[in-house]
Amino acid sequence: MDMFVVRGGRRLRGRVRVSGSKNAALPIMASAILADGPNVLHGVPELVDVTTLGQLLSALGVEVTRQPAPVSATDNLPPADPEMQAPDPVDPSGEASVLYPFGLGQPAEDQPGSDFLAPPAPLRLEVQSTGPCVAEYDLVRRMRAGICVLGPLLARRGRACVSLPGGCNIGDRPVDLHLKGLRALGAELRVERGYIIAKAKRLRGARIYLGGAFGSTVTGTCNVMAAATLAEGTTTIEAAACEPEVVDLGTFLNAMGAKITGLGTPFLSIEGVERLSGTEHTIIPDRIEAATLMIASAITRGDVVLDNVCLEHMTAVAEKLAEIGVTLETVGRTARVTVRDELRVADCIMLPYPGVPTDTQAQLMALLAVIPGISIVTDKVFPDRFLHAAELVRMGAQIRREGPSAIVSGVSELSGASVMASDLRASAALVLAALAARGESVVRRIYHLDRGYDRLALKLNDLGAGIVRATDSPEAMPASLAIGAADLWPADEGSHELRGPNWLRARERLRIHQPEVE
Ligand code: UD1
Repeated sequence: MDMFVVRGGRRLRGRVRVSGSKNAALPIMASAILADGPNVLHGVPELVDVTTLGQLLSALGVEVTRQPAPVSATDNLPPADPEMQAPDPVDPSGEASVLYPFGLGQPAEDQPGSDFLAPPAPLRLEVQSTGPCVAEYDLVRRMRAGICVLGPLLARRGRACVSLPGGCNIGDRPVDLHLKGLRALGAELRVERGYIIAKAKRLRGARIYLGGAFGSTVTGTCNVMAAATLAEGTTTIEAAACEPEVVDLGTFLNAMGAKITGLGTPFLSIEGVERLSGTEHTIIPDRIEAATLMIASAITRGDVVLDNVCLEHMTAVAEKLAEIGVTLETVGRTARVTVRDELRVADCIMLPYPGVPTDTQAQLMALLAVIPGISIVTDKVFPDRFLHAAELVRMGAQIRREGPSAIVSGVSELSGASVMASDLRASAALVLAALAARGESVVRRIYHLDRGYDRLALKLNDLGAGIVRATDSPEAMPASLAIGAADLWPADEGSHELRGPNWLRARERLRIHQPEVE
């Protein structure tokens, strides 16, 4: 297992390209099952979940290949959505010197030596066989989005056997709403030996309410919407998720020939069609990665320019960062993130889109942990998603859990420590905290991070961070994290006076001024 050794205290500075959205790419890849003919996807991020879904799709008879150079799928494919093309750095106001806005170097893909920051090669998906319909537990358990093959399999192949993904460290992850929606479309479903076993002759359009106790469901809406594209008649989904990733899937399905209206609203209407054909599509920028990089700049008091940002998808996050005191300047699809004033505490409530996303909760908490004062962080989507709080406390943060909220008493500085990542976004939060902490930190179990971030450590190092990837072993632990005799309380002096350097520093921070007795 790998870990990151992070040297804290470095200001990030430079330019970085945000990758395509993981949560948009995965259901879009799964929906390739619906198409007759090849699909070509631009901007699919290079991360483990994409590889895992690629393996799952291969097992389901879909050929998945990364193409070596930019290509056009076939001559008769429609062009990619021009809105979603690479950023145009020209200022719409027409003012001069905006070719490389903010004076911080050229866009990453033009920089020599930054090949890893260039957009990835397109991904081509083509159904070769419509026979297989079993999504094995071994693949689905590694990546929850594997459930997204359920709707497309049922709609296109009339049967599906998909492993239940199970819970995870961010809380319960039920799929009852997925099943409710597909049943409403006429599918017969049962759960047996950990698998959802489903069949349907041809799905029939229906009126479906998809709201649950915690609001709408993102992958549930994706599953039901994708299935309804090939149903007989019209389906309406009420309380549909409005997340940009759902809209991106709908845009992709429409480009394949589906008839979906209402995208981005809680009311979707899907007129079923007989067949869908392959298309070419560019994945939207990853708003969660963008937020993570913005917070990385803020937490290190850095000066970072992000390319390929879609700020319209991030209004709530941008407003929250502005409330905290982070300066965001934008030109087209480029955003500069700096800190020019003292940062301020803020209460944050995570809600379904267009609220602040639950997937940024942990990263915001890391930032608030180093802003003196009290902030309250509440997660209305996953009320148990707080495992990172205990790890931040190991770095000196003061965080107390109160039901679906965490009360963060910001401290002026964190200290490096060895911490354990519990899930994808928690891992990112711990890396952010480590970037800001005094001294070295170790973030363990970073396989979570590999699942969902496209080369985050490389991007951060390109901005000046000091992150080293190492095999998690006692030998690789930095010596600076070892507690030596000088750090311990002297037990034999009959005195409760503490003398280690940590205690001296702690006393300085607490402003307890006592004469030193050496
Ligand atoms: C997706 C995202 C994940 C994000 C989450 C919320 C992907 C691959 N993952 O996960 O990164 O954190 O949206 O924005 O896109 N619920 C039910 N019944 C269901 C389904 C969900 O009660 O059938 C509940 C969940 O427990 C949760 C809430 O609804 O409390 C939202 O979950 P959902 O939107 O379904 O999350 P995912 O689609 O799994």
